[in-house]
Amino acid sequence: MAVSGDVSLLRFITCGSVDDGKSTLIGRLLFDTRLIMEDQLAALRTDSRRHGTTGDDIDLALLVDGLEAEREQGITIDVAYRFFETPRRKFIVADTPGHVQYTRNMATGASTADLAILLVDARKGLLTQTRRHAFIASLLGVRHVLLAVNKIDLVGYDRSVFEGIEGDFRAFAGELEFASIQAIPVSARHGDNVIAASPNTPWYEGPSILSHLETVPADEVSTAAPFRLPVQYVNRPDADFRGYCGMIASGTVRRGNPVVVARSGKASRVTRIIDAASDCNEAGAGKSVTLLLEDEIDISRGDMLVPPGDRPYVADQFEANLVWFDEHPLMPGRQYLIRTETTELPATVTELKYRVDVDNFAHEAAKSLALNEIGAANLSLASPIAFDSYRENRATGAFVLIDRLTNATAGAGMITHPLRRASNVHWQALDVSKASRAAQKHQKPAVLWFTGLSGSGKSTIANLLEKRLHAEGRHTYLLDGDNVRHGLNRDLGFTEADRVENIRRVGEVARLMADSGLIVLVSFISPFRAERRMARDLLEAGEFIEIFVDTPFEECARRDPKGLYAKALSGEIRNFTGVDSPYEPPETPDIRLKTMDKSADELVEDIHDWLRAKAYIG
Ligand code: ADX
Repeated sequence: MAVSGDVSLLRFITCGSVDDGKSTLIGRLLFDTRLIMEDQLAALRTDSRRHGTTGDDIDLALLVDGLEAEREQGITIDVAYRFFETPRRKFIVADTPGHVQYTRNMATGASTADLAILLVDARKGLLTQTRRHAFIASLLGVRHVLLAVNKIDLVGYDRSVFEGIEGDFRAFAGELEFASIQAIPVSARHGDNVIAASPNTPWYEGPSILSHLETVPADEVSTAAPFRLPVQYVNRPDADFRGYCGMIASGTVRRGNPVVVARSGKASRVTRIIDAASDCNEAGAGKSVTLLLEDEIDISRGDMLVPPGDRPYVADQFEANLVWFDEHPLMPGRQYLIRTETTELPATVTELKYRVDVDNFAHEAAKSLALNEIGAANLSLASPIAFDSYRENRATGAFVLIDRLTNATAGAGMITHPLRRASNVHWQALDVSKASRAAQKHQKPAVLWFTGLSGSGKSTIANLLEKRLHAEGRHTYLLDGDNVRHGLNRDLGFTEADRVENIRRVGEVARLMADSGLIVLVSFISPFRAERRMARDLLEAGEFIEIFVDTPFEECARRDPKGLYAKALSGEIRNFTGVDSPYEPPETPDIRLKTMDKSADELVEDIHDWLRAKAYIG
């Protein structure tokens, strides 16, 4: 039983700076409306008793169910959804606590919200933070903004202060394409204009917060969007039954509708729709269903069923707006996991196009995005996926990026469009294979990846080892950091972003060289685990051998072969590994060389023995 009939649902979020009064406002709304709800429930109880049907029990399960569905569906981070209702409408407000992580929480809450309450302290006016939140809300497709000019009591209920802030906001928000902006002077603390019109602001003739929330249009877009069913799993209890299960991301499906698998284009027709446990003729967005099709076609988890006449894009590269909310900045070239409505797979930002200055929307050149920054970027995925633009479909146009090492959700993205170039470049089949190239050289290709601090002895050892392998008639190449930085990577310095790109490039080069059948030695500091892992992932299993040249910092600084430690320690050069730029030692290297215990020649011997024992060399 629903608590009230067919009243509509409005989802909203609140944003503002720490002291703007977010919690007070929500507290007041919840408190004051709970009274309304209590009244209403009391009335319901009386009704129930009078008609003798439901007794004293009021079924609140549906409310709770609503919340749980919300949690399952979204990208769940620290966002609590609170439910309340008035006789006119039900509300879900995303309660987004936390200060530093505010953007993360806000982005999560906003991705399904119809409206954002933007709180401003009347004494302070618009802050950069206010603009940032408004901008994120608009990027995330929030259609309506309620600008709550709070603490109006503290400026003596001054009309001109309110109108000044409203004017500033309207001028700023002009470009953001909100469907509506309603400014309201409030005192969350005293309740002015929260639930009802306040006698303290006779000059204000607009609605109270609650009456605006009760009347603003909600949920206009999702029902209009085309049908999308991301397949979460294929239910095959026996040979006769094959159902495709998932939650309808948007649109509606009817029995008999033709559908295609977005990625493969394979077509069929819907023969049954099972919603919960019973058959139905039609189902819409938000429903979890099982579809049965006329034909046996190849469909698996991660596929998307769509109408043949209204298909999503299918590509492995696209442009997107990004909101970054990890302490650790976004690094172009670094591999992240992208999670969309349908799937999860590796992805990299191939180009950061710009960062947005939220005060004036200016596009700035940037090499990375820091905590709370917003920008636009091109992304490249390990394989093609089906998606829509976020503007057309909030469910299938959104994604999050996950840090592969920490598993943290590091950023949210809204796809703008696919990159055409992606669909025009194909793999060219080559007749001479890696195996045949290697066979001709009578060897097994491998990448011996030396990592360690500057001055740890990487290049010395790699050089001696190459000499040894070469003398044995093996085909080798040594890629050395200092040397590659004179050519291919001469445009790169030592910032974190540049080192990521440095290693990405040398990883790709090492892969090509291994593909040509060579034994490749790579001698780069390669300080980050993420990029070493990326280099490993580029190769076949067993081809990448991580060799940690384990020399303590103090020893490297003592040796200081190039005089760089002295300069770094005196502050003359910046971003020096081990001084003011981090080194992440391998956790489980294939070979660990303790250079304090043995000479370079002995260590080369050790590697040689290892390679022989593992049958890399005969
Ligand atoms: S990496 O970190 O991006 O892998 P790479 O191995 O290419 O570094 O280059 C390291 C070499 O550059 C060092 O051996 C050293 O000679 C030189 N170098 C110059 N400045 C720095 C710096 N700030 N940090 C580390 N190495 C530096």
